[in-house]
Amino acid sequence: MWLLTALLLWVPVGGQVEPTKAVITLQPPWVSVLQDEKVTLLCEGPQQSGDNSTQWFLNGTAIQTSTSRYSITAASINDSGEYRCQTGLSMPSDPVQLDIHRDWLLLQASSRVFTEGKPLTLRCHAWKNKLVYNMLFYQNGKTFKFSPWNSELTIQKTNMSHNGIYHCSGMGRHRYTSAGVSVTVKELFSVPVLTASSSFPLREGKLVTLSCETKLLPEGADLQLYFSFYMGSKTLSDRNTSSEYQILTARREDSGLYWCEAITEDGNILKRSPELELQVLGLQSSTPVWFNILFYLSVGVIFLVNTVLCITIHKELQRKKKWNLEISLTSDYRKKVNSYLQKDRNLEEEVKCLEQEEQPQERVHQKNPEGEQ
Ligand SMILES: *[C@@H]1O[C@H](CO)[C@@H](O)[C@H](O)[C@H]1NC(C)=O
Ligand SMILES: *[C@@H]1O[C@H](CO)[C@@H](O)[C@H](O)[C@H]1NC(C)=O
Ligand SMILES: *[C@@H]1O[C@H](CO)[C@@H](O)[C@H](O)[C@H]1NC(C)=O
Ligand SMILES: *[C@@H]1O[C@H](CO)[C@@H](O)[C@H](O)[C@H]1NC(C)=O
Ligand SMILES: *[C@@H]1O[C@H](CO)[C@@H](O)[C@H](O)[C@H]1NC(C)=O
Repeated sequence: MWLLTALLLWVPVGGQVEPTKAVITLQPPWVSVLQDEKVTLLCEGPQQSGDNSTQWFLNGTAIQTSTSRYSITAASINDSGEYRCQTGLSMPSDPVQLDIHRDWLLLQASSRVFTEGKPLTLRCHAWKNKLVYNMLFYQNGKTFKFSPWNSELTIQKTNMSHNGIYHCSGMGRHRYTSAGVSVTVKELFSVPVLTASSSFPLREGKLVTLSCETKLLPEGADLQLYFSFYMGSKTLSDRNTSSEYQILTARREDSGLYWCEAITEDGNILKRSPELELQVLGLQSSTPVWFNILFYLSVGVIFLVNTVLCITIHKELQRKKKWNLEISLTSDYRKKVNSYLQKDRNLEEEVKCLEQEEQPQERVHQKNPEGEQ
């Protein structure tokens, strides 16, 4: 029942197809030409059956042409302006700005304003097609291409770095330099940023959601993006429409450098996020690793020193006991021994503290010489 209602409601909405925009293309493709040159504008768009007429506008005013081709056989300054066209079932096209110049050398571009990922062709063109060679192409005043003979160059996939003012220079009878042409590349979506749902460091066993966040700009509003997630060189998820990736139960092995990629459906524009370091700590240790190492190292050293000291003391006492036993047999020597022992008493006092760890039995033995006195 619900499904049926939904279908009935959906049909009329789906039936209303948004009219498409007409599109102007130039032949040859340059948006700027020299005076007296030939240029043709073509309009493409859906037509009403039985009516092939096309409307043309220059600077918003309709012009007397109704064919889909608008030819300018010898361009004059008066042909400069903003052109639009419209066909029977189309919306008016985006404007195309055509400029007519009088100059020795002209830098021609296939487009002045376009979105990233589109190609851009530039041409260093001389008045009356005169021969120029050793051409230099400049972007923002810096040369980026030297071309001995070929006057054209194409950037297949433009990106934001191709924004700027272009000009060229070429050798004829002497070196000619063109005027500058501004080229604007519009961004479709921002460079993604990878974020994690919880703050760092993470506890083992937690659920972590990684998000590949990007902003779609007006030009790319109806763009479908695909997201990929990586940990180091390992692919975690490849080209999914979801901009999120979940680590259900984080393990210590999940610690590492993560990054993501956003790509358009046609694969023309790919943007990579900066790396994000994920740290997952074990359940037991809440202290940093270096602290643990230092702690266990100190305990080890203390234990080692203690052991060495105790062994030394133990041996020393053993030796003394043996000697005491021998001399106790001869009473003649007793006094001598006692004086010796007196001297040693200081040492004994000193080691007593360390001796505590020794058997109490040993202390009894040690006291024997005194008891016998
Ligand atoms: C429309 O153009 C087609 C060819 O593109 C032509 O065959 C047809 O006769 C044209 N119709 C009218 C009404 O001009
Ligand atoms: C350009 O248009 C103006 C009038 O708007 C006219 O006086 C002039 O002669 C035209 N120039 C050319 C080259 O057609
Ligand atoms: C159209 O407008 C531009 C300025 O935007 C101007 O330079 C040009 O002469 C205009 N063309 C016509 C035919 O009025
Ligand atoms: C833009 O494209 C050029 C090649 O045309 C490439 O060398 C450069 O790395 C790209 N820049 C970015 C930010 O993608
Ligand atoms: C895309 O991601 C969703 C949600 O993370 C997941 O359910 C789905 O299986 C993924 N699809 C592919 C083709 O990986």
